[in-house]
Amino acid sequence: MLTTHNCGELTSKEAGTKVTLCGWVDTLRIQGKIGFLLLRDRYGITQVFLNPELSKEIATLPKESVVVIEGEVKKRPANQVKKEMSTGEIEVSATTIDIISRSETPLPIEITEETTTHIDKRLDYRFLDLRRNKIAAIFKIRSVIYALTNEFFIKEKFININTPKLTKSGVESGAEEFKIDYFGKKASLAQSPQVYKQMFVVAGLEKVFEIGPIFRAEKSHTTRHLTEFIGIDFEMGFIKDEHDVMDVIEKYFTFLLEKLIKQCAEELTVVGVKLNIPPKIPRLDMPEIKKLLKEKGKTIPENEDLDAEAEKLLGEIVKKKYHSDFVFTLGYPWAKRPFYHMRPENNPKVTRSFDLIYNGVEIATGAQREHRLEILEKQCKEKGIDLKKLEFYRDIFRYGVIPHGGVGMGLDRIVEQMLNLGNIREAILLPRDPERLTP
Ligand code: 4AD
Ligand code: MG
Repeated sequence: MLTTHNCGELTSKEAGTKVTLCGWVDTLRIQGKIGFLLLRDRYGITQVFLNPELSKEIATLPKESVVVIEGEVKKRPANQVKKEMSTGEIEVSATTIDIISRSETPLPIEITEETTTHIDKRLDYRFLDLRRNKIAAIFKIRSVIYALTNEFFIKEKFININTPKLTKSGVESGAEEFKIDYFGKKASLAQSPQVYKQMFVVAGLEKVFEIGPIFRAEKSHTTRHLTEFIGIDFEMGFIKDEHDVMDVIEKYFTFLLEKLIKQCAEELTVVGVKLNIPPKIPRLDMPEIKKLLKEKGKTIPENEDLDAEAEKLLGEIVKKKYHSDFVFTLGYPWAKRPFYHMRPENNPKVTRSFDLIYNGVEIATGAQREHRLEILEKQCKEKGIDLKKLEFYRDIFRYGVIPHGGVGMGLDRIVEQMLNLGNIREAILLPRDPERLTP
């Protein structure tokens, strides 16, 4: 390693020690003959004291250049520590400075915490945008969410599967496919692992999950839609009804939030959010939801979905009434749901499906699946879908199939809503939308 320590770990315990640090020039202040350099790496910032000779040597070094510094750890006077807490109780008095990489100037974006650079430009230079503390914190939190998600589903005895992303045809009616040429054959990028997760539950794995990419050729220009996102999908067998699926989701979010609050305390402070552990998540049926919305002046016609405005409004209502950031919305109309959702015996106009709304935005859609082939075929006919085209999907239901259900959740939306980022593009390193294909 080039370094003996990182910029976050030195304390007065190391006073008198000779150390080597390496990082980016965050700030360089030359004051008369002497100077101070704030050296930054992913762990923090260390103040480096520059004697007159070194000050002169690097006086014109641009911000974001990379240097290696050798020096001695010195305790800072108490009055200075108070003034600049961010750099801690020590500083390093430099003896040598090696310039490893001189940054070009000017920087294409503003690398300051309160940047005024437009999001499009920031995303063009995402690798520089990440040098901001807040942006780096978002992705440290996302990484922990990813790891905790794996931990939770493994703990709950789900089996991690990886399903093909190159497919013949999707089953997500409504969601547009990205068509590709597969050695002269028509193919598309997977819009969902739906068929495969059902396949492996029926195969006998019983409980499966996948965290993987999902592709949707939706020309949506909203703060909630991407054309490529990460789905957290799970599917489980031997369920009594869709409430069994919701129980797992509820347990997952309680686990996730409890652990995050502890494991990411520092990053959450940097991003400026306070997370709440969900109380019992309310499960509201469509008639009740419509009534609540109507009281606030929003009418949803029969057989219609909740639009973004309705979801936002419902989020506010639930927050007031149930003190919950989350709400399960149940009983979506058959007209708006895909053919594989099960319908209750006594009401074919609705489905045994649900969405999960988090702070006013849909983050998950799930259902009990129809596993009885005759009914599934009838439902296909009603939707004008030719099951023959989905022959291998049809086969799943022919040789002993268990009642099952599951859900698709969007990781990027979860991160966006949890951290109150205002735009899904803030929650993913390199977003893909109808306009953005680079970097
Ligand atoms: O609601 P969706 O389309 O449902 C399915 O894919 C079903 N197969 C799920 C199931 O198991 N029944 O997608 C699931 C979730 C959404 O709730 C949302 O969080 C996310 O995936 N999502 C998107 N995220 C970003 N950009 C998009 N274009 C998204 N479309 C869906
Ligand atoms: Mg949905």
